[in-house]
Amino acid sequence: MKRVILILSLINCFFSYAIDNSKKVCVLGTGYVGLIVGACLADFKNQVICADVDVKKINKLVQGQIPIYEPGLKELVSKSLINGNLKFTTDLALAIQTSDIIYIAVGTPMDEDGNCNLCYLNSAINIIKDNINGYKIVINKSTVPIGTAKEMQKTFDTQAKFKIDVISNPEFLKEGTAVNDFLKPNRIVIGSKSEKAIEIIKEIYEPFVKAKVPMLITDNTTAEIIKYASNSFLATKVAIINELSALCEVTDGTINDVCKGMGLDDRIGPKFLNPGPGYGGSCFPKDILALLNTAQLKGLNLSILKTAHESNENHKINVSNKFIKLLGNNVKGKTISVLGLAFKANTDDVRCAPSITIIKNLINNGAHIKAYDPEAMNNMREILPQVEYCSNVYDVIDKTDGIILLTEWPEFKEIDWEKVKSRSSSKVIYDCRNILNISKLKSFGFEVKNIGNAEVN
Ligand code: UDX
Repeated sequence: MKRVILILSLINCFFSYAIDNSKKVCVLGTGYVGLIVGACLADFKNQVICADVDVKKINKLVQGQIPIYEPGLKELVSKSLINGNLKFTTDLALAIQTSDIIYIAVGTPMDEDGNCNLCYLNSAINIIKDNINGYKIVINKSTVPIGTAKEMQKTFDTQAKFKIDVISNPEFLKEGTAVNDFLKPNRIVIGSKSEKAIEIIKEIYEPFVKAKVPMLITDNTTAEIIKYASNSFLATKVAIINELSALCEVTDGTINDVCKGMGLDDRIGPKFLNPGPGYGGSCFPKDILALLNTAQLKGLNLSILKTAHESNENHKINVSNKFIKLLGNNVKGKTISVLGLAFKANTDDVRCAPSITIIKNLINNGAHIKAYDPEAMNNMREILPQVEYCSNVYDVIDKTDGIILLTEWPEFKEIDWEKVKSRSSSKVIYDCRNILNISKLKSFGFEVKNIGNAEVN
């Protein structure tokens, strides 16, 4: 199969270069964002080269092997490898020289102090300016501190041999639905002052123009703010719902009805009102802190966002402590089963996952942890090697003293609890995603708690 893909892609490369006049695009960085952008732009019939310094990763990608779990991505990459629209390389210089449009999609991870680490971005900027061989458009997809694009433009204007226009074009891709989010966006934000560059990016995004996707053209800095503002607002929405869940628990309310009642107000809307163990992932925690840092540097105190961040940190610890309370205020020497490690379902990503904080707290209180996640165990092994990883859901539940569900994987809804009721020594379940049918579980003798007294059938 791999060999077939390689041969077909070589044949197609030859023909597509001979007849094609589509855009020549390169994407620097083949992480979550870069791969999706590259694969989708290739699907739009552009000639795309995805470049990365990671030789191992590129070798896999050339053979159609995807290093991350993202539904629909493998099919999209294989299709474009076969029709020749997508290529992978470790030769960043050549990728830049042979392209008119350069996407930057490198990681901007969070440092220990909460600052955005720009070392990969700076390497990308250097390699672009050192290899420039004509007018280019640089489209920044990486989430960067406000003002970064302006600085990039200055660097290129003063140090590059040819003109480069920098566009800020933030991504709003959600892991797990990223392909669909790219192909069917609810808005496109383009930050640039160059009319020439704006016209060219509109040509690349012609399918969106045709589909009448709202396109906001603004300046670079505002585009950068929009990205942070959107994620911080959504993170705050989740933090509020988690606080209201705690309120329901002490007042005998029911959080899902509270969410329904709020969500029916179309000024609020029903989305992002699901309570859980706390928000995580590579964006929300990082972006809210980055925005706070930027504001602080400018002498501003964004107190609501600061509180949302603190609330989320406290919520994760509260969830863990509530579970300990459910187990008689003592988990020393007990075996705890954790269902789900990824920061949410349909991803193998464990960056800033609430499971990390919750498991660490349980371990600090003397518990032995068994865990199962359909996709995220390899990534979690590197962070929490002391956890016992199980190969399926029934092994993790076997002979346990308590079960905590942290990720809303669909397969957890299908567990045959009647089958496992005799295998677990304890009957305590804490469902932190409100997906388990409580009345059914109670009928099997389980003691079930969830977030905010949700009624789940
Ligand atoms: C986010 C943004 O949504 C996306 O636009 C941006 O480009 C990247 O960051 P992602 O990190 O993939 O996407 O996850 P998202 O689906 O937004 O969820 C973030 C966190 O909030 C997860 O931990 C999730 O479980 C939690 N969440 C989300 C809730 O707890 N409740 C909700 O109702 C929604």
